[in-house]
Amino acid sequence: MSAQRSDFTRLVDDARAHVDHNYVEHVNPSFAQLLHLTGFDRRYVRGLDARLWDDVGHEYVDCIAGYAVHAVGRSHPRMIAALDEALRSQLPNWVQFERNPLAALLAQRLCARVPGDLRHAVFSNSGAEAVECALKLARRFTSRSAVLHCDMAFHGLTLGALAANGNQHLREGFGPLGESTSIAFDDLVELEKALETRRFAAFLVEPVQGKSLRVASNGYLGEASRLCAKFGTLLIVDEVQTGIGRTGRFLALEHDAACRPDIVVLSKALAGGFVPVGAALVRADVWRATFNSMTNALVHASTFQGGVLAMTAALMTLEIHDAEQLSQRAERMGTILGKGFDECVRRHDGAVEVRGRGLMLGVALHKDFAERFLSQLPLIGSLERVLFGQAFAMKMLESHRVLCQVTDSRSNILKFTPPLVIDESQCARVVAAFDATLHTLSGIASPLLHGTFYALNRLRAGMMTSAPSPASDRQSVR
Ligand SMILES: Cc1ncc(COP(=O)(O)O)c(C=O)c1O
Repeated sequence: MSAQRSDFTRLVDDARAHVDHNYVEHVNPSFAQLLHLTGFDRRYVRGLDARLWDDVGHEYVDCIAGYAVHAVGRSHPRMIAALDEALRSQLPNWVQFERNPLAALLAQRLCARVPGDLRHAVFSNSGAEAVECALKLARRFTSRSAVLHCDMAFHGLTLGALAANGNQHLREGFGPLGESTSIAFDDLVELEKALETRRFAAFLVEPVQGKSLRVASNGYLGEASRLCAKFGTLLIVDEVQTGIGRTGRFLALEHDAACRPDIVVLSKALAGGFVPVGAALVRADVWRATFNSMTNALVHASTFQGGVLAMTAALMTLEIHDAEQLSQRAERMGTILGKGFDECVRRHDGAVEVRGRGLMLGVALHKDFAERFLSQLPLIGSLERVLFGQAFAMKMLESHRVLCQVTDSRSNILKFTPPLVIDESQCARVVAAFDATLHTLSGIASPLLHGTFYALNRLRAGMMTSAPSPASDRQSVR
């Protein structure tokens, strides 16, 4: 007689048994096709710290970390113990009509950590939702509606956040969006010129851009905060991806001592990758302009904000961040990875530049190299040309079991955002994988052709199915 399976085991077993059909039929066939085409369609069954294991026992180093959500590492024992206890405690969740104690404690601890005079936290469930909140509060405070953002910016895909998105292909077909203007990232002259018009409620900016991996120069954010104050625009620093230690400071804006944000937006790693959560940390007067009376006390809110699990996970993330000195660790490991990549870039001609800060790193692959590489192949059209970055990431996964990504399906920038608990030996493995892949592809030798033909074969197989073609399907891969 077989042993009785737990409910969870039974559900996972059923889910795995039917995933191929269910995902394609009922979730996202286009994404399934992209995974298939790029060789990313593996079945992961276990995660621990910076590692993953697939269903045949292979170990991977995870340099995507769920799009940079896993700060404290997967399956962290203190986190699991706290969440397990929270679930068993019968502490009532979402009573709504109470002064939520865990939310209040988290708000106090977050506001105490951030520079500037941010006094209130508005919690939500995602980065985009926290951005929406920031934009609404800025509109109400300034009585202006336009938002200023940067080329290549990414702040989420809800309608308000989309208006501040610097990638045209993500905006197409979803308009009309809110009034917005895009300026060059890290350019104070353009910023001042735009602010002088006094049209903008907010300047929304990432300290390190998630899509381009460009880092704001020293002094940029400080001067931006001075200029915003001068022209009556609020500075919203989007730390959704950079926050909670990733760049070597708790917030990336702390690299610039003069930066005085009006609102800071957090999400992703805030709850350690265990529970979705978002937060907008807001200056007191800005907050008061919206929540200015009992009638307006809930004028911006969300049913699931401040949930017990999310608040517990976020409080535990802060404690683990401090106990394990994760910001310092991100700086140290980021230096090891960055130096390793730099040496590879100098040795081979396939990549041009290492960008980023701490454990948010990108390597720009050489466009000419991509052209040269692809011109060696027969039957190359624009469809395949855009897949060069993906082919590189695919080779990293297939040959070295290092999971990394390109910043967009058409991008030539490889991106690495491992959990902050990654160790020296795992960093060395990532660098060795990158070196070997670059060497293989730089040689324009048979292994390269093997890799690309592998992609092309998958592409052709995909094109024979009735699913939409990748050319018409620009998946954003954050
Ligand atoms: C800087 C930044 N802001 C906002 C968002 C949106 O967050 P979410 O995907 O949780 O809505 C992202 C997501 O990648 C991000 O990187």
